[in-house]
Order: sequence, then structure tokens, then C-alpha cells
Amino acid sequence: MHLGWFMNYAPPQWTNPLDRVNPSWSNADFHIEVAKMLEQACFDYLMIEDTLMVSDAFGGSTAATLKHALQVPKLDATVLAAAIAKATTKLGVIATASILSYPPFTLARMIASLDHLSDGRFGWNIVTSGEEQAAHNVGLDTLPPRQTRYDMADEYVEVVTKLLASWDEGAVVMDRETGTFVDHTKVHETNFVGKFYKSRGPLNVPRTPQGRPVYLQAGGSPRGRQFAAETADSIVAVAEGIEGMVAYRDDVRARAQSAGRNPDDIKVLFLLTPVLGDSAEDAENKRSKMVNTDAFITGQLGMISTVTDIDFSTFPLDEALPPLTTNGEQGSLNKFLQEGSGKTLRELATSATGFASCLPLVGTPAVVAAQMAEAMDAVGGDGFLLTTPLQHLSRRYVTDITEGLVPALRDLGVVRDSYEHDTLRENLRAF
Ligand SMILES: Cc1cc2nc3c(=O)[nH]c(=O)nc-3n(C[C@H](O)[C@H](O)[C@H](O)COP(=O)(O)O)c2cc1C
Repeated sequence: MHLGWFMNYAPPQWTNPLDRVNPSWSNADFHIEVAKMLEQACFDYLMIEDTLMVSDAFGGSTAATLKHALQVPKLDATVLAAAIAKATTKLGVIATASILSYPPFTLARMIASLDHLSDGRFGWNIVTSGEEQAAHNVGLDTLPPRQTRYDMADEYVEVVTKLLASWDEGAVVMDRETGTFVDHTKVHETNFVGKFYKSRGPLNVPRTPQGRPVYLQAGGSPRGRQFAAETADSIVAVAEGIEGMVAYRDDVRARAQSAGRNPDDIKVLFLLTPVLGDSAEDAENKRSKMVNTDAFITGQLGMISTVTDIDFSTFPLDEALPPLTTNGEQGSLNKFLQEGSGKTLRELATSATGFASCLPLVGTPAVVAAQMAEAMDAVGGDGFLLTTPLQHLSRRYVTDITEGLVPALRDLGVVRDSYEHDTLRENLRAF
């Protein structure tokens, strides 16, 4: 199975007395250290999440978001990707960039540069931004509805892909005899004119080591899956249990097939936040201690509020929720609500190891590894995206995974123990 890691360029765990607090976390030393640990464990990629606001969705103001450092401060993902790319040699590095942030030309240039900088290990997580406030921050009066955002994304990706293809292979000849650096016949104007975007081209960056960087996508709505099926090399997904994972992956693969793509070229990684211990009891104690705290509940409610623009602080904790919909992350909302379960808000916020995890994995590394292998057998592929169940990442949690879980997965022979290739896309397609 493939393994990815989900992280943001945000503060590490800072409240636990057992975690070393480095006030200079923002210089990325912590994040680079984590990346090196993941590379040692042969993860396919590290995906750096990103958003564009100091959210005021939870509690109607930025107070709780700032006080608890919920999704903020969060520094620019592409900048961190550059630093990690230079500190690693095999790990894939994927950064999030919203189509609302940059004109397509600027983004194409940035991601092409990152593919060069990483010698072909860069990926772009294509997001449309799902928060009203993010739209306001980039000069829009309102967030376009989901359908329009994805229509924009279709066109945006089309023009970016054309710009990335504007330099043929072999355009850079560096021929000293003729004094020619670039063969101009191999560099083409793009002349893209669409409904939302226009760009003349060519790009001023040569063809990248991967031809184009890897494309990652995360939208779980039917429209989001369609977009992913047409464009993505890998998808990061939230789904409820094995049944939900099977349905998600089968749907995306069927859509890819209809779009004329080989479904095996799209690797679907399901989000997991395992809690590991040296015995079943130890792991369960850790889990129950972790979730039954105000900080955990606030973190979960803050996170779901931020990505849905619904203020979960207004609902009583010990009652069931009314039906809810959002123009933001509908997939994450559905996962959180566990519709039909009749659970109270507190039960939803404290269930398992956090609402985002596709499976409730709590146990020793050997037991959790076996459950992951079994789930992959049932789902058919392709792997998992691991992340901390807490709001803030600790070195100890990464160690639990890289030095506990990954060796247990290796014992079962279900993960790689060395990289097959030098580029991200090749490693994704290695199996
Ligand atoms: C695992 C995961 C990671 C995501 N990462 C980001 C991110 O870094 N930035 C962002 O703006 N949206 C992120 N999203 C949101 C998606 O890109 C998408 O906008 C959202 O799921 C809504 O699309 P949908 O309505 O098709 O589900 C993420 C979603 C998931 C499930």
C-alpha cells in the first residue's frame, strides 16, 4: 500500500509538558525534521495542507481560533515544500495552492519551479477553497457556489496543464557550438482563452522533470470526484469505514474509466489517525484520555466549523444536531454528522480517534497494521494518508507511526522498504 502524510505549516504540539516546545517552529526546522522521518519510512509523499484565512466561523469571531491556534497560524505551503525538497532526496512533496490565490500562469510557473527544485518529486494539491472568508481575503465579494468553483477548476487545470506543456522535451539544448541555449522551435505559445481565464504563454520555465508535477485532489462530492477522476494522479479521501472506502474508490475508478483514463493511474489514499500503544489497553487509555478533553472537543468543533462555515459552538453539546448542509466541505460534514446515528454533538466530537479518520484504529502497531492490511484487501487499494488525531503534531506521534506502525506494516510485507524510483509519479505508479 502507498503511504502519505498530511501536515500543515503550523505550530507543533505546544501544550503537552512532554513535548519539547520550540518557539522557532515557524522557521520550519520541525517540519523538515518530520519530512526526514517520513522519508526514512519510505512514505510516497508528504502533503502540506493550506487555507487562506484566520477563520471566524467558530464562535462568530477569531477569538477561539487564535487562542487555541486552530488552523492558524499557518504559513505558506509552497514555501515549506521548497525547503523540504532541498532537505530530502526521495520523498514526494505535495503543496496545496488554491485556484483563488494565483492567476494560472503564476501558479504554473510556481509549481514548475518546485518540480525542478525537487528533481521531479513535487505535487500540487488542487483546491478551490471552500470558505467564505478565504474568498473575501483574495478580493471576491462572495465564495462562488461549489458547481462554479469546480467549473473554474476544470478550466484552471486545463490552462495550467497547457502552460506546463508549452516547452517540448529537448527544448533546452545548451549547444556550445551553435551558441544555442533553447531551441525556439520547441517552445510554443498557449493562447488559451476560456470563460474564466486567459493566458498567452509560453511559460518561462522549461519542461519539468516529471513533464508536469503530480496532481492531487481531495473533493469528495460527486462533482469533486468527477474533477478528480479527470485530473488527479492521487486523491486524498475521507470515507466512513470499509464500505464507504469501497464506494468512494469504485466510484472514482468508474468515472476515470468513463473519462478515458486508466484507473490504476489514480492512487486513492484514505485518511487515518491511529492511536498506538504498547498494549490494547494502553492504546485505549491514550485514546480515551485524548478525546475526553475540552481541548480535543474544541479542536474538532473548530476544525469542522472552519471547513463548513457552520458555527458548531451554537449547538448544545449533549443534544443531536439538526440536518445541515454547506457550500464548503460537504464530504467532511457528512463524515462528521454520521447521519442516522442519533449521536449527540459531544459523541460525534469524541468518537473514535477524531471524525476525519476513515477507520477507528486503536491498538498495538501489530494489530493496527493487520487491520490496515485487511482493509486494503477489502477496498482493493491504494493506501492511506496518515495524520495526527490532535490539532497539533508532535514528534512523538510521528515516531509512533514511523518507528512503530511502519515496521509492523513491513513485517506484513504490505509497504515498501526502499524507494523504487527518483520521481513522485513513478513511485506512485510502482504498484
Ligand atoms: C483529506 C483532505 C484534505 C484537504 N486539504 C485541503 C487543503 O489543504 N486546503 C483546502 O482549501 N481544502 C482542502 N480540502 C478540501 C477539498 O479540497 C475540497 O474543497 C472539499 O473537500 C470540498 O469539496 P467537495 O464539496 O467536493 O467535498 C481537503 C479535503 C480533504 C478531504
